[in-house]
Amino acid sequence: MKSIRNAEKASHIEVYSTAKLFEIGSWLQKPVKTIMDLIPQFKNHKFLNILDLGCGVGRNCIPLAKEFKNKCRIDCIDILDFAIEKLNNNSMELGVENEIHGIVSSIDDFSIKENHYDLIVAVSALEHVDSIDSFKSKLKEIGMGIKDNGIVCLIINSQITEINKENGQELTPQFEVNLKTQELLDLLNETFREWEVIKNTVRNQRYDIPRKNCVSDLTTDVVTFVAKK
Ligand SMILES: C[S@@+](CC[C@H](N)C(=O)[O-])C[C@H]1O[C@@H](n2cnc3c(N)ncnc32)[C@H](O)[C@@H]1O
Repeated sequence: MKSIRNAEKASHIEVYSTAKLFEIGSWLQKPVKTIMDLIPQFKNHKFLNILDLGCGVGRNCIPLAKEFKNKCRIDCIDILDFAIEKLNNNSMELGVENEIHGIVSSIDDFSIKENHYDLIVAVSALEHVDSIDSFKSKLKEIGMGIKDNGIVCLIINSQITEINKENGQELTPQFEVNLKTQELLDLLNETFREWEVIKNTVRNQRYDIPRKNCVSDLTTDVVTFVAKK
């Protein structure tokens, strides 16, 4: 497990060192559309508390902070101090340093305040918590952390496979939690069972991923789950 986490940290440092936030052609080019599509849901709020778990360098939280400037506080959690440093620099450059609160912490260790957030987002991050048990209890904590009428937007990879592109060898995916897609869907539907489901989709995707000694061909079912309490 430790080796997965170290390898995963190294690959994110590599990615954040090479691509700039909102750089055209990079995966940091633009925020996730599903998150931006939620903005009208909050147009009547005077102030918003938002949580971005595994925020990276600000691809989603910074556009939200710009949209709700002077009207929000966004707690941004990432395990990598390198990511939070870049997030802080990006926030200053884009004039949202008062809204963005970068916190270096693992998602596991960050305790989510109950009944506090209007919106919690986690994009490609929850699959990196310590274990399946930790994943299940974090989902419950997310549910408890949301206020009535608040929204969760979770984007989670499942059923991930990785193959060394050079020799076709199967590799261990660098994800601490790699659930079967149906198991993940069942878990989400069960945890948020009394909520209004706004979006629940599965998209099969394929990427080339730089790994320590090779490039891997990664396939994943990307589950997007959006629900209102
Ligand atoms: C694929 S990136 C996505 C970043 C961001 N959510 C986005 O959409 O641009 C995953 C991020 O989660 C962070 N991360 C991975 N495991 C984590 C953990 N256990 N706790 C907190 N952050 C973690 C990584 O450092 C990385 O910045």
